[in-house]
Amino acid sequence: MKVLSSIPFIFLISIVCLTQLSISQKCLEYLRPIYRYETKVVDCPMVSINDKRQLIPESNDLMFIINFNCLINDKIMCNKVENVLITAGKFVSATLNLKTAITIDAQFLNFCLEYGDCDKEKVILGSTRPGRMIPNQDPDGKVRLYPQALLKQLQLPEHPEFGSSDILTTFNSNTDYWFEGDPLPSLKNNPDMLYVVVHEMIHGLGFTTAWRDYFNTQALTPIPGYFSATAKGHFLEFIFDKNLVLLPSGKSLTFFVDELNKFPIDFVLTENEFVNLFVKSPQFPVAQNMYKNAITHGAIGFLITSNLQPNTQLTQDDVFLLETSLVPFQPGSSVAHVDFETYFDTSDFLMMYKYPKISLGQMMAKVGSTNTTGPIGPKLRLLLGMLGYEVKKDYIPPVVLLSSSQSDNESSFNNTSNTSTNKSNPPKPSNNIEKSDSSLLDM
Ligand SMILES: *[C@@H]1O[C@H](CO)[C@@H](O)[C@H](O)[C@H]1NC(C)=O
Ligand SMILES: *[C@@H]1O[C@H](CO)[C@@H](O)[C@H](O)[C@H]1NC(C)=O
Ligand SMILES: *[C@@H]1O[C@H](CO)[C@@H](O)[C@H](O)[C@H]1NC(C)=O
Ligand SMILES: *[C@@H]1O[C@H](CO)[C@@H](O)[C@H](O)[C@H]1NC(C)=O
Ligand SMILES: *[C@@H]1O[C@H](CO)[C@@H](O)[C@H](O)[C@H]1NC(C)=O
Ligand SMILES: *[C@@H]1O[C@H](CO)[C@@H](O)[C@H](O)[C@H]1NC(C)=O
Ligand SMILES: [Zn+2]
Repeated sequence: MKVLSSIPFIFLISIVCLTQLSISQKCLEYLRPIYRYETKVVDCPMVSINDKRQLIPESNDLMFIINFNCLINDKIMCNKVENVLITAGKFVSATLNLKTAITIDAQFLNFCLEYGDCDKEKVILGSTRPGRMIPNQDPDGKVRLYPQALLKQLQLPEHPEFGSSDILTTFNSNTDYWFEGDPLPSLKNNPDMLYVVVHEMIHGLGFTTAWRDYFNTQALTPIPGYFSATAKGHFLEFIFDKNLVLLPSGKSLTFFVDELNKFPIDFVLTENEFVNLFVKSPQFPVAQNMYKNAITHGAIGFLITSNLQPNTQLTQDDVFLLETSLVPFQPGSSVAHVDFETYFDTSDFLMMYKYPKISLGQMMAKVGSTNTTGPIGPKLRLLLGMLGYEVKKDYIPPVVLLSSSQSDNESSFNNTSNTSTNKSNPPKPSNNIEKSDSSLLDM
């Protein structure tokens, strides 16, 4: 897969600021869902909630408004895909008490024809992005970027202007998916679209980190940028990052962001000048150390307990362990997913970076979550609650999946179910859920 452009966010911002000095508020948008680096900075002036009252739909089924744009000449396939999007929304609505409807712009199109992504070895299946990342000040005084879908749920009296869609999602028609009702053997080669869509929706809701190796220096930082013409530059976290902690110390990653932000970000510099200065700065080792943590199994978790007493030793129960086993750091897979080894056999499987090659229904049946939490397991529920979503107390399955009661005696899953306990012999099934960012790859 090729990444079209690696121009970091920071330099896009400087262009905007040189030309438009009067802007008070900036937000970040992704130009197309597939390529995270293609970002643009847009104006999003503060508006009051009274300016435009959001209608609050009465029925849960209407909490996702799906604008589906099917760009292929196959009505039957288009209908199947649209139904999966609707079903995926129902699973999310069965878990979250959404206050404001979420608009999803979904496209189904041929990546080879549209984007020139014709690689047969690594097919990008699809990708999802928050429509807009919006800066918001948290109670700890720090500004973090919120995905629009989440900020809407908070129903703030005043907020930066929203874009037209909350989540952008794109799926590649240039590959074969498996749908509920299809013969099971084809699951071996064709990914279950429902699994993929529910996984991607959770990314769209905010399961996404700002920590990356933006400058290819084996050093991680949050995203550099700034959002008002008068403020100085900062490394900015996403709201997800607020709860990240190092293990076992429990030290908040925000602490290291404060350290990194002692480095003055000057937008007048070119990219090379910036990198040269940063690499020589006393802050650089902090970023290098974070890279090391991100490639060390068990080193980073998402804190899911609140009101911890200071200096308490964290236990497994206090965190949702994140994926930090991949070496080298894989943008979009590392940190932005849960630990494969720990959660493969649990009801918290959904946000693993690898697609387990069995359907969502079978996976839920296997871990016993069909009627208890569904696809969104107990820790993921806590995580979404910490982000700011209201989580329902009880889970009622919105849909009965046929495949949850079909044992797939042909699938390769049978042979891998036990290997997760064997550390030197990790599970084989490996459709990378994402290779680059939240892009789905089938390899
Ligand atoms: C889930 O509930 C449905 C309906 O009550 C039932 O038919 C099914 O057997 C249950 N599945 C499991 C795994 O308990
Ligand atoms: C799979 O299981 C079904 C019944 O559950 C059986 O009819 C079929 O022959 C099995 N296939 C294989 C390959 O074992
Ligand atoms: C799958 O595993 C079960 C036991 O867990 C076994 O009975 C069954 O024969 C296996 N199927 C295949 C195809 O290996
Ligand atoms: C599962 O493993 C058995 C032996 O370990 C092998 O014979 C069989 O072909 C495997 N099945 C699949 C679907 O990989
Ligand atoms: C998994 O491994 C355990 C022991 O580690 C064994 O008792 C069990 O039968 C295995 N299950 C399968 C399906 O191979
Ligand atoms: C674990 O993996 C190693 C190396 O692949 C293998 O030799 C060993 O038999 C495996 N152990 C189990 C219990 O599967
Ligand atoms: Zn993912």
